[in-house]
Amino acid sequence: MSNIIEVKDVLWEREHKSILKNVNWTIRKGEHWALLGLNGSGKTTLLNMITGYIWPTKGEISVLGHQYGTVDLREMRKRIGWVSSSFQERIHPNEKTQHLVISGLHASVGLFEQPTEDHMQKAVSLMETLGCAHLLDRPYQTCSQGEKQKLLIARALMASPDLLILDEAGNGLDFLSRESLLQSIASLVNQKDAPTLLYVTHHVEEILPEFTHSLLLRKGTVFASGKTEEILTSEQLSALFETPVQVSWKNNRAWLSL
Ligand SMILES: Nc1ncnc2c1ncn2[C@@H]1O[C@H](COP(=O)(O)OP(=O)(O)OP(=O)(O)O)[C@@H](O)[C@H]1O
Ligand SMILES: [Mg+2]
Repeated sequence: MSNIIEVKDVLWEREHKSILKNVNWTIRKGEHWALLGLNGSGKTTLLNMITGYIWPTKGEISVLGHQYGTVDLREMRKRIGWVSSSFQERIHPNEKTQHLVISGLHASVGLFEQPTEDHMQKAVSLMETLGCAHLLDRPYQTCSQGEKQKLLIARALMASPDLLILDEAGNGLDFLSRESLLQSIASLVNQKDAPTLLYVTHHVEEILPEFTHSLLLRKGTVFASGKTEEILTSEQLSALFETPVQVSWKNNRAWLSL
């Protein structure tokens, strides 16, 4: 396969405003990316474009070697796992955890057919990878926020996507739950045949050493992109946030202070 994602000279205009402008971004196989930017910088808009829900005003998008405009988007979406907080509200509170995970196969909200033994096994194995196999048989509503995030990631992996997008997966989690989620993501990325990961966050310290590359978005344009250790510097982040900040590295992760 050629590149996982290619965004070429993308412009997206709404109400006479350029929400995204001159966006160029290439993700190659074997790379995992973090996407960072202040509120309103265009992160979700860019994800909506990569998943084919909105169309660039100008420019080109190719995902997994297929140029958008020449490919069936429903087929593409089966190869892209996407976890965002807006989905949580649509889940039936009494849905059993393993059924929620299996529903990822059909991209449906509930499960309408009896799951096969193979699907059950796959769901359990994914729940083990994400460190949430102990939640088997529990109703979704009885799980904590951190546990719910892990279940949603397992659900997104059920269809064996080539690309997994996590939009602010660490939100609303306490320090320990967030670390537990991050460790689960790290072990997922380190598995053979892991999908390419695209991790959107507001928190620099969530950027794991496994995320080889980072893209900084500012006011709809690419402020910087490249290898994570070259991007997450005090100088770059101070300029990004327009506020002096200090980056210190601990356990191969960047931590931010004012
Ligand atoms: N359909 C639309 N029409 C007009 N403006 C829009 C539309 N969609 C997004 N915007 C604007 O585009 C900008 C970027 O929004 P986007 O949701 O992509 O930001 P974001 O980086 O994901 O922010 P956050 O961190 O808050 O999630 C915002 O100013 C938003 O108001
Ligand atoms: Mg957003």
